Amino acid sequence: MKEILHRLEQKRAEARLGGGQKRIDTQHARGKLTARERLELLLDEGSFEEFDMFVEHRATEFGMQETKIPGDGVVTGWGTINGRLTYVYSQDFTVFGGSLSETHAKKICKIMEMAMNVGAPVIGLNDSGGARIQEGVDSLGGYADVFLKNVLASGVIPQISVIMGPCAGGAVYSPAMTDFIFMVRDTSYMFVTGPDVVKTVTQEEVTQEDLGGATPHTQKSSVADGAFDNDVEALAGIRRLFDFLPLSNKEQPPVRPVFDEPDRLEMSLDTLVPSNPNKPYDMLELITKVADEGDFFEIQKDFAKNIITGFARIEGSTVGVVANQPMVLAGCLDTNSSRKAARFVRFCDCFNIPLVTFVDVPGFLPGTSQEHGGIIKHGAKLLFAYAEATVPKLTVITRKAFGGAYDVMSSKHIRGDVNYAWPSAQIAVMGAKGAVEIIYRSEIGDEDAIAKRTQEYEDRFLSPFVAAQRGYIDEVIMPHSTRRRLARALAMLATKDQSIPWKKHDNIPL
Ligand code: HXC
Repeated sequence: MKEILHRLEQKRAEARLGGGQKRIDTQHARGKLTARERLELLLDEGSFEEFDMFVEHRATEFGMQETKIPGDGVVTGWGTINGRLTYVYSQDFTVFGGSLSETHAKKICKIMEMAMNVGAPVIGLNDSGGARIQEGVDSLGGYADVFLKNVLASGVIPQISVIMGPCAGGAVYSPAMTDFIFMVRDTSYMFVTGPDVVKTVTQEEVTQEDLGGATPHTQKSSVADGAFDNDVEALAGIRRLFDFLPLSNKEQPPVRPVFDEPDRLEMSLDTLVPSNPNKPYDMLELITKVADEGDFFEIQKDFAKNIITGFARIEGSTVGVVANQPMVLAGCLDTNSSRKAARFVRFCDCFNIPLVTFVDVPGFLPGTSQEHGGIIKHGAKLLFAYAEATVPKLTVITRKAFGGAYDVMSSKHIRGDVNYAWPSAQIAVMGAKGAVEIIYRSEIGDEDAIAKRTQEYEDRFLSPFVAAQRGYIDEVIMPHSTRRRLARALAMLATKDQSIPWKKHDNIPL
């Protein structure tokens, strides 16, 4: 018996070595951790339970029967993050470059299936040369099996992808269908076709980094939701994000112990909004002052900075925050910010995370580039996402809420539950200057008349009180009491139960 136990230990040790020490050293020399080292950092110490450690590929072509490595290039299983269950896979670049074979795909599908049945997230650590070239269509079929599971799991369990090495070709589409993609700067890249193909087809010369590194994907394409400097920081960041999320769509978001009083008053907020309506201020300050312990996990921080999205907690419970940022493009809505926020709102609604929206929006960004870029369709995405969302929706208008953007930003009219305004709020079809120039066009040139008309318009409309008189604003609140008001409203809405008419699925303007 002792001999058998010893043999098991030996086989395990062999499997843990993956593609061998030499390739592990190369991985380290590139500043990358191995698949197993990454899992050790991601999961609670000693919590990882591995599946399919001895699975081998079944390929026979190109001499493949001679090179079988237990595990076949991916480490799969489950573990915990701060005591909460998650399923994981981690591609092992030391084994056939982490390439995906039929059996490699089966291992990933097995944990995804289990995650869906049990109701817990899947975190995928991607580091792969793509389809296992020697396996041909079996490998492509394996990818498609994973894609299908990604789609079926969407909205059922949170799916998080971390790109920690190459991710190229059709392989990018599995992460693309998960909820969040994070990248590691300088060591990861994602593209459908690499620099060589790009050069052949378009004559364009571009490096891997410029084509598909963390910088273009977090700042330009918005494919990635965030980037980290190295593997260690990335895995610590994912642990932090995980703590905000419920395990599945059947669960409420986790409640964490909190040492921050829910009725904390924040007097400095009374002077946050400058008296000059055209002067910007930092909306992030409001978010961090309202959040428990100032903790805010921002999603897509480097893209469409005119809107802020991310997770915070109020009284220990997760909320999704969406906020116009007056510091960038005056906080207006454009194609990119609408898309960014719409996807975030839908994630929150899938997973029972209440939405807190801070509004200071002068309207949609005008211009041909916006119109031709499809602002109508992209703006509609955000409107659609807010309107269909049935989670508790809280809105605070801090300053401008103009035009269609007023309706879009979680207004009462699209089922906002509690809509507050600060006394500095201005709710109107447009700003005073534009309005007066249209409705008193004949008086243009007469400066005194225009000044009088502008003052009249400002007095009448540029306050929260017209909307409050109609019940579109539930209450005009003191800025310093915002956290207390939100905490109380969230507690009041805890049992909210709202539905939408039966349908197979909606047809959001994609
Ligand atoms: C089999 C692969 C492989 C692959 C890498 N390897 N990619 N084996 N299938 N796709 C192996 C190499 O043979 C090598 O084995 C080891 O992994 C490390 O690869 P290197 O080339 O030495 O590493 P590096 O220089 O870092 O380059 C990494 C790389 C390069 C850029 C990823 O390997 C590469 O270009 N690979 C091919 C990428 C590709 O075209 N994949 C198909 C994409 S299309 P040894 O034994 O020497 O260590 C696709 C379609 C998906 O994926 C469709 C889904 C629908």
